[in-house]
Amino acid sequence: MTTLAHYLNTNANSPALNDVITTVTGVGKTISQLLRKGALADILGEAGNQNVQGEEQKKLDVLANDLLLDALAKNTHCAGVASEELDDATPANADGSLLVLFDPLDGSSNIDINMAVGTIFSILPYQRQGQLSENSDFLQAGNQQLAAGYLLYGTSTVLALTIANNVVMFSLDPDTNDYILIEDNVQIDADTSEYAINASNYRYWRAPMQQYIDELIAGEAGVRGRDFNTRWVAAMVGDVHRILCRGGLFTYPFDTKYANKAGKLRLMYEANPMSLLIERAGGGATDAVNRILDIEPTDIHQRVPVVLGSKNEVAYIKDLHVKHAGQ
Ligand code: F6P
Ligand code: MN
Repeated sequence: MTTLAHYLNTNANSPALNDVITTVTGVGKTISQLLRKGALADILGEAGNQNVQGEEQKKLDVLANDLLLDALAKNTHCAGVASEELDDATPANADGSLLVLFDPLDGSSNIDINMAVGTIFSILPYQRQGQLSENSDFLQAGNQQLAAGYLLYGTSTVLALTIANNVVMFSLDPDTNDYILIEDNVQIDADTSEYAINASNYRYWRAPMQQYIDELIAGEAGVRGRDFNTRWVAAMVGDVHRILCRGGLFTYPFDTKYANKAGKLRLMYEANPMSLLIERAGGGATDAVNRILDIEPTDIHQRVPVVLGSKNEVAYIKDLHVKHAGQ
């Protein structure tokens, strides 16, 4: 059996990187325990509400954010933290060499219905050691990530991690509270017949995405000549995990539902870490046309359309968009 600690120590990563990954995954154990307790832990519901004892309740995504923030602030290698829950990045230790970005609880609308949620994280190098980090230090393309991963709190808690070109999965053993390696060198098939999209937004999509989904729904009777099946967890972390396990296509495409928003998902702590995992597992990750990992960010919280998963399907969607643009 290989524990996470053993894996990190024997895979020649920098001690700083190992230490920060250990901190994030350590907090993941606490979040996992809180989720297991569910309503019994007085953690469900909206922040600002009062529980039956008349105490102020903290919504679990706020709690997860605070736990990660506190733990990373104490980590001497962490120079700063950016989170979905915080408008601005928080500086940590000026002498640290790493920046950490996270979505503390992805898919939070799943919490109150006892469905899968997760924590997504991305680790970037810090270039101005000795000075306090600022928002602008975080604005690095996803191809600069030193490591990325997620914790999926599902029927079991699973960690998917990519460092040093490898994608690995660990399962949290509830008896020993250790992460145990369950998959080394995760790889995704290039072809798939499974796709994930919130089709209720159909009327807001661009024509090539509408055409793509029309083709999949037509199945055997249409131009694709075979049937496709939909799966939608409604937490990106769950949908990406399914794709790492058995392939598939996930998209949250460009839509016009909300003016001035390119898509729903966030580039820096959702799309980038997931894209690194998927690419290193042999899949593709684009905004429909361009590689997500090459996008130069201008804002910590910017949104991006996301198309990721089995390589040939991602390429097929790009072709439709390119053809459409050329018409
Ligand atoms: O973080 C945003 C998110 O919760 C993703 O995890 C998920 O894929 C998506 O939103 C779900 O969106 P919708 O509400 O359209 O199902
Ligand atoms: Mn999210």
